[in-house]
Amino acid sequence: MKAKMKRNKILLIHGPNLHLLGTREPQIYGKFTLKDINEELKEKAKQSGLSLEVLQSNSEGEIVEKITNSKYDLLIINPAAYTHTSVAIRDAILAVNKPVIEVHLSNIYKREDFRKKSLISDISIGVITGFGPASYTLAFSAAAHFLKKVL
Ligand code: DQA
Repeated sequence: MKAKMKRNKILLIHGPNLHLLGTREPQIYGKFTLKDINEELKEKAKQSGLSLEVLQSNSEGEIVEKITNSKYDLLIINPAAYTHTSVAIRDAILAVNKPVIEVHLSNIYKREDFRKKSLISDISIGVITGFGPASYTLAFSAAAHFLKKVL
């Protein structure tokens, strides 16, 4: 009998206001929608034999609950505005001790000073910032590479 291989699971979290992609400040964030991003990553997951769960939430508490109550091998997160403020999300990530990749559509270091500080970067494997929707594709490839090497 063939043993069934467990597929590695990636949890992808999009923080506040990212549900508005497509219409939100298109000069900064572009014209594609969150659905476009999620569909591309779901396709990539299928191709790479990984499982993917996606959450978009505008609520810090819901994000903390998802990070701490779900089963997954690696977290890809665009914490959006919470990047710069949320000790709660930082603490949730530290509590579960899972590998994390931080993602931003815009280059947070090229924008207002308050965006240059991330509470997540120093506890992440790495940060991908400034490539628009390709930031997510790059993050997914980095995640697949990391999981292959580590797990
Ligand atoms: C963002 C950058 C954050 O500063 C901002 O609050 C966002 C989106 C990005 O993807 O570029 O909502 O995380």
